[in-house]
Amino acid sequence: MKTLVFNLESDAALAAQITHGLQAEAGSLEMRHFPDGESYLRVHDRCADHSCIVFCNLFHPDEKILRLLFLADTLKELGARQRILVTPYLAYMRQDKRFHEGECVSSKPFAKLLSQAFDGLITIDPHLHRYHSLSDIYSINTQVVPAAPLIAKWITQHINQPVIIGPDSESEQWVSQVAEMAKAPFQILEKERLGDYQVNISTPELSAYLEHTPVLVDDIISSGRTILRTLEHLESANMKRATAIGVHGIFAGNAYEGLSNKANVVTTDCIPHISNRIETANALSKAIRIMQHSL
Ligand code: R5P
Repeated sequence: MKTLVFNLESDAALAAQITHGLQAEAGSLEMRHFPDGESYLRVHDRCADHSCIVFCNLFHPDEKILRLLFLADTLKELGARQRILVTPYLAYMRQDKRFHEGECVSSKPFAKLLSQAFDGLITIDPHLHRYHSLSDIYSINTQVVPAAPLIAKWITQHINQPVIIGPDSESEQWVSQVAEMAKAPFQILEKERLGDYQVNISTPELSAYLEHTPVLVDDIISSGRTILRTLEHLESANMKRATAIGVHGIFAGNAYEGLSNKANVVTTDCIPHISNRIETANALSKAIRIMQHSL
C-alpha cells in the first residue's frame, strides 16, 4: 500500500514535511472555479488500494469545507483504501452548547459531515470544553496529538524561571501538563466571556512570582482578547514581560499587533504565522503512521 498526501489549500511547508516524514508521495490535485463560481476538482493520481492522507487545516473552515467533502468523496470512488483527514486545527469545536434558543450547535453537524466523509481524523489539541473527547460527536477513528510536550520542551529551552499561567478553567487540562513537564509552577485564572470581543479575567494573586517569567498558555488565540486581558493583569501586578504561547494562532483582525506590543508571542506551526516557533510535523507524522496501522 502506497501513501499519498494531498494538500487541500493548506500550508505547503507543513504538508511537505509530513510527506517527507511518512516517506510518502505528494498527491496532485487540480482545482479551480467555473465561471459561475462552482468548484472544479480533479485528482491526478491512481488511488486504488492506497492510503490517502488529506492535509486540510480547517481554520476559516467555511472557505474549504465543500472542496474537502468533494475530495473525500472522489477518493472513495477512486478506490482509496483509507482516507485520513489531518487538520491541525479542528474548527467549530467552540460551538458546543446552545447558549440561546434556536442556535445551531455547529460542532455536531460539522462532526457528522467529516465522520461521513473520512475513515479517520487527526488533529492537535481540539477545544474540548463541554465534550469529554472527540468520540462524543465524531463517529470515526480520531487521534489527538498533544501540544503540551512540544510547548514544555520549548519553554525549557528558552525561558528562565517560568511560571505557567492559564487564563481560564478550560486551560487547566494542558497548562498543568505543560507545567509538570517543564518542572514549573502554574496558576489558573478565572475568565468570563461576555461577547466575541469582551472578556473579563480575574485579578490573579501572583506576588509570589515576581522573579519568574510569566508564560501564558492557551489553546486558541482568536480575537486575542483572552490573552490581552490576562497581560493587562500581569502588568498591573508588576510581573516581568510575559511570553504568550498559543497552540492555534488564528489572530483575527489585528490581534497579533495588539499582543506583540505587550508580550513575546509564540505559536506552534499548526497555522502558518510569523509567531511560529514550535514544530509539529514529526508529531503529526507519528500519529498518521499509528492511525494507518489501526484502520
Ligand atoms: C476559550 O474557550 C479558549 O480556550 C480560548 O481561551 C479562546 O478561544 C480565546 O479566544 P480569544 O482569543 O477570542 O479571546
